[in-house]
Amino acid sequence: MLTWSEQFATGSPLVDTQHRMLIEKINHLERLLSGPPPSKAICDELINFLGSYVVTHFKFEEQCMERARCPAHEKNKQAHTAFLALFGKFKERYAAEGPKPELLRNLQTAASDWIKSHILSVDIQLKACLKS
Ligand SMILES: [Fe+2]
Repeated sequence: MLTWSEQFATGSPLVDTQHRMLIEKINHLERLLSGPPPSKAICDELINFLGSYVVTHFKFEEQCMERARCPAHEKNKQAHTAFLALFGKFKERYAAEGPKPELLRNLQTAASDWIKSHILSVDIQLKACLKS
């Protein structure tokens, strides 16, 4: 399980709230995978929510970085594009194969690792830009 902590703070309370929500949804997926196989309806709902929330969040965060003239802005956009490509590939497989535990586990692990390293290496660069 991922836990939001101060080291993830970006200096923007709204961005942080959105990160907490993303982390909560990824953890929700992990909890679902530790129990009996979840229904397709539950998986569909979670995946659709994650897919649309991430798009909204990325847009919002990119606007924040652009406005703050953060030097990480371009790198952030590229990383978001790469994540959306990864998520798109997952969705193609999900549509073809359904809620296979192995497939969902892959998404959960990839999303969890990605968000942690992305926030810590890119998003937190916003903090210094909002201060100045
Ligand atoms: Fe980001």
